[in-house]
Amino acid sequence: MTSDNKPKKQLILNAFAMQSPSHLNPGLHRYPKDQGGNYKSLQHWVSLAQKLEAAKFHAIFFADVLGGYDVFKGPGNLNPTIPAAAQFPINDPLYSIPAMAAATESIGFGVTASTTYDAPYALARRFSTVDHLSNGRVGWNIVTSYLDSAARNFGLNTQVEHDERYRIADEYLDVTYKLWEGSWRDDAVNVKDGVAGYADPKAVRQIDHKGKYFNVPGPHLCEPSPQRTPFLLQAGTSTAGKAFAAKHAEAIFLHGQKPELVRPSVDSVRHQAQAQGRDPASIRVIAGVLAIVAETDDAAHAKFAELAQYGDREGALALFGGWSGYDLSKYEDDQDFRFVEQPAIRSMVNHWASTVPGTGGKKWDKKTISEYLVLGGNGAKIIGSAKTVADELERWVEVGDVDGFNLSYASIPETFDDIIKYLIPELQRRGVFHNDYAVKGGTFRENMYGEKGQSRLPESHPGTKYVWRKGEEIPKYATEAGN
Ligand SMILES: Cc1cc2nc3c(=O)[nH]c(=O)nc-3n(C[C@H](O)[C@H](O)[C@H](O)COP(=O)(O)O)c2cc1C
Repeated sequence: MTSDNKPKKQLILNAFAMQSPSHLNPGLHRYPKDQGGNYKSLQHWVSLAQKLEAAKFHAIFFADVLGGYDVFKGPGNLNPTIPAAAQFPINDPLYSIPAMAAATESIGFGVTASTTYDAPYALARRFSTVDHLSNGRVGWNIVTSYLDSAARNFGLNTQVEHDERYRIADEYLDVTYKLWEGSWRDDAVNVKDGVAGYADPKAVRQIDHKGKYFNVPGPHLCEPSPQRTPFLLQAGTSTAGKAFAAKHAEAIFLHGQKPELVRPSVDSVRHQAQAQGRDPASIRVIAGVLAIVAETDDAAHAKFAELAQYGDREGALALFGGWSGYDLSKYEDDQDFRFVEQPAIRSMVNHWASTVPGTGGKKWDKKTISEYLVLGGNGAKIIGSAKTVADELERWVEVGDVDGFNLSYASIPETFDDIIKYLIPELQRRGVFHNDYAVKGGTFRENMYGEKGQSRLPESHPGTKYVWRKGEEIPKYATEAGN
């Protein structure tokens, strides 16, 4: 209980990973204890899932990209990226989820997939398949993608314009809701009585979606899975991205240095959601954090310094190039980017200069930028003893109104081992992290909301308007739309 006797908010903790030798830690495959190179092995992921489930993590969340980071020293140059293994090579995360699910019972799996380069009909089928095979434990991190290299490989000359990507994504979501929620009636499958055939043909219908960007007749290829719509996650920071999140996301991810600075974004998404009739508190806000924890503050700082030595500076600048679209190799080594003429870089770097702890008065040249990004990317880095880190996480909750954290790694699985050994028991002692899953063996959505029976989209979510309920001849939306 807090001093005013309110029950303390229970944190959501996810592991933030990527199926690549390195995620937000370019070059760390050179650190002797790092096992990032085992990303190709199912056993690597199964063991991690089991370990995280034993520690009661809510989910493993897999980031993903569909192209190489080829902007730095580019254009079209992967030479700085390849030796650092900077999110390259990278496997598709979805295939490993059923294996991890078979070896666990409650942990969830967030998987990133793009609305820009994949047909909604195909994506809906893949997620339904994995939702079935995992007993409802898959989530979809909806991204619109940001790499030009992906656009070129999917047959475009350049990326679809930023806000247009979100307009496409919005219609994309409508298509998938119709497939997941409105193509098979809730009671369509009749296997139990054995007489009516496998499913009732009158309870499986075409969705006949005809829109600006997609024409999808349906029906959905898969029968209803435990969650129907997978738990929906999103990370958008632009105006269009936040509006999209406020409408569709059940959990949003954000990166930021200080809780004071993320608070306006959090408030804005919650307000926009409320304006659309959604419960603002139901939206789970998850901040990306690199937590390096050890027995003492000094030991944690020493550990961070040791790990940082292995970081690949060129790899970090390659990541920056992909994220921002700017090639810093075009500038002199002594250029201080706080004063550079390019406004987008200048504002980004000035933001870091005023918020990154311990860099006051420092010149923000390429070296500083690469050292800042090399471990944990653009997320907050919290380094210290269990007490120090737990205090800071609690401050994020209090000041930033976040609900939990995506914990990235400097070295896999060592960073998680330290979190499990030092931090989780401290959070549990403080009563801010559960001792067990709210719904053991439950779906991703049940465990994210902490409520048994909450496997389907919450009633105030816009996707529910497509639900085809038992007893309805056709889903209500189809009558209203006249199709
Ligand atoms: C914590 C976090 C995780 C993200 N993960 C991915 C990812 O795995 N793949 C991807 O293509 N984009 C990812 N993004 C990028 C976002 O989806 C989005 O493109 C980016 O934040 C820019 O948002 P905006 O276009 O609304 O400004 C992530 C962003 C954040 C903050």
